[in-house]
Amino acid sequence: MLEDLAELEAAGLDELAAVADAEALERWRVRYLGTKGRVKALMPQMKKVSRADKPAVGKRLNEVKRALEQAFSTRKASLAGATPAEPWIDVTEPGIPMGLGRRHVVSRTIDQVPEVFARMGFSVAHGPEVEDQWHNFDALNIPRGHPARDPRDNFYLSGGLLLRSQTSTIQIRTMSETTPPIRVIAVGRVYRPDTHDATHYSMFHQVEGLCVDRRVTMVDLKTTLFQFARAYFGPEAEVRMRPSFFPFTEPSAEVDMKMKVKGRWQWTELGGCGMVDPNVFEAVGYDPQEWTGFAFGLGIERIAMRKYGIADLRWLFENDARFLRQF
Ligand code: DAH
Repeated sequence: MLEDLAELEAAGLDELAAVADAEALERWRVRYLGTKGRVKALMPQMKKVSRADKPAVGKRLNEVKRALEQAFSTRKASLAGATPAEPWIDVTEPGIPMGLGRRHVVSRTIDQVPEVFARMGFSVAHGPEVEDQWHNFDALNIPRGHPARDPRDNFYLSGGLLLRSQTSTIQIRTMSETTPPIRVIAVGRVYRPDTHDATHYSMFHQVEGLCVDRRVTMVDLKTTLFQFARAYFGPEAEVRMRPSFFPFTEPSAEVDMKMKVKGRWQWTELGGCGMVDPNVFEAVGYDPQEWTGFAFGLGIERIAMRKYGIADLRWLFENDARFLRQF
């Protein structure tokens, strides 16, 4: 009997050590401590023990029972402690490396260019991308029947509206809302139904400048563009103006800037400029005898492509991270 008890205690503790979860623990409890368990099963054998041995064997039986019960509650407590109450987080697990993002070249140019003009006293103006024809054409001295209004060159919408084809609309909006003196810079998207190629896209960005005051001259215009060129493209940058025509300026000129492209200084046409046409002042209710002004419009993508040496305009809008990561 004493041997049976020893064997029972050893087997019970052994098996208990192998118990890994609450279910296995319960099965163990039933097998050893349950009403039909192995401890209970030994009870009837007490009858066969001799009178003299009874106290010792009875004591031993109680000891084994208590030892198994004690071991059971210890194991139960340790299993409960190991069972997580909340989702388990392994703080030592290696992380997933995250690619660092960066600002798109066009966005960066949109931020930087007005910043240079802001230092010359220009404040930032905004205007809507869906425009009416008065702001996009009439007020800018572009008469009915002018080729610039051709439906093949504009995205017309219903109700006589269109996606603006130039940011010069913001000149009109600014002048209609405020009084001179004015010095504003505006960057925005413009839309034209062009076939996409290395230099054309149906959407691109322009930066528009407008200065209205008394006795503004071409010198002010050229100085402003020159200061921008030096600040943005470097101390050896140059500005060149070539006579041209725009309905909203008189005289008008194309603006070229000499800048470093892939390490070599080179002339590039960036846009147009001129002195605000008296008809434009009249359209917004300004007296052309009193007010004078200059305006300019440059292509943001042109600036970005030269500055970063990008050969194809389409690459700017394909959102290929391998390309964009380079800048
Ligand atoms: N709006 C013209 C264009 O899209 C660019 C331009 C030319 C803007 C002369 C001006 C300007 O403000 O004075 O082609």
